[in-house]
Amino acid sequence: MAQTMMRAIRYHRFGDPDVLQLERTPIPEPQTGEVLVRVISAGVLPIDWKLRKGLIPLPLKFPYTPGSALAGIVEAVGSGVSAFRKGQAVFGRSPNGTYAEYTTASVDSLALKPELLGFDEAATLSGGATTAWQALIHDGQLKAGDRALIHGAAGGVGLYAVQFAKWKGAYVVGTSGTANQNFVCSLGADEVIDYATTPFEKVVGNMDFVLDMMGGETLDKSWSVLKRGGTLVSLVAQPSQDKADEWGVRALKPARLASRKDLEDIADLIVEGHVKAEVGQIFSLSEARQAHELSQRGHGRGRLVIRVADE
Ligand SMILES: NC(=O)c1ccc[n+]([C@@H]2O[C@H](COP(=O)([O-])OP(=O)(O)OC[C@H]3O[C@@H](n4cnc5c(N)ncnc54)[C@H](OP(=O)(O)O)[C@@H]3O)[C@@H](O)[C@H]2O)c1
Repeated sequence: MAQTMMRAIRYHRFGDPDVLQLERTPIPEPQTGEVLVRVISAGVLPIDWKLRKGLIPLPLKFPYTPGSALAGIVEAVGSGVSAFRKGQAVFGRSPNGTYAEYTTASVDSLALKPELLGFDEAATLSGGATTAWQALIHDGQLKAGDRALIHGAAGGVGLYAVQFAKWKGAYVVGTSGTANQNFVCSLGADEVIDYATTPFEKVVGNMDFVLDMMGGETLDKSWSVLKRGGTLVSLVAQPSQDKADEWGVRALKPARLASRKDLEDIADLIVEGHVKAEVGQIFSLSEARQAHELSQRGHGRGRLVIRVADE
């Protein structure tokens, strides 16, 4: 008899990491335009723990399975699907929870996984590379010769932002803690500022582009390092339009989700050797709590990944 049940992390209320439970639940069925994916690896994004704590004003239906970033293998296709077939390796995003052995996803939010990229590496792309792509390339319209300041350059988004900016031909300054200075250099940054010892606003200026992912003081102090006509993109707060007018810069918070074309463009850059994926620590499905505890600390390098299954 075909398998009908799967293991999945679920929570039944908002709370601390201990609300995450490993449970058995029915394998979902792909609807029209969707595929069923056997998840091999799931990326652990900061939004996953923010949702779990009830910090993001989105309506969640309990029990809720966390996770949106995935890499896995197409197990079945829904009606009307011609873009993928059973057995293909894919990566991308699902709105239906990826800390699970199976999930369903729209064909528009998936792309074929390049063979040279492992499943763990591919699970770092959605919500990491896609966010950086949206911020720098799509919305930010970064150009060759621009001077770009990337805050949080060692993290799951920042590591791709540094590499995309270098690929575009920008001069890149990254910020990170002391332990991650060499790592950010290895990504290609021209300068790295240790935020623990050096106030960035004292040592950089005349920037065309700033990527903020801290908000608060970091966002407040970022205006002064931009030249007039520059661009400030924040991932965590809608920047003040009054401040943008005062400093003569364009300021925005990205809203659009990555398309299949974005995923394919990013995969091409990886295959061509312009960009590399970086995995942080790897956890098993039953270690989802530990993964959230670590993600919540807000420090570290590379994307945390949950290895759900063997290939
Ligand atoms: N709106 C969106 O679409 C969207 C999408 C993705 C992410 N985000 C948000 O963007 C933020 C970053 O996401 P992520 O996935 O990159 O997180 P992450 O993987 O947890 O990385 C966070 C990084 O921030 C660094 N950091 C901590 N304090 C810092 C400071 N004061 N100055 C500079 N760097 C600092 C840490 O480096 P050290 O270890 O060196 O301290 C760490 O590498 C999160 O708040 C997330 O929710 C938003």
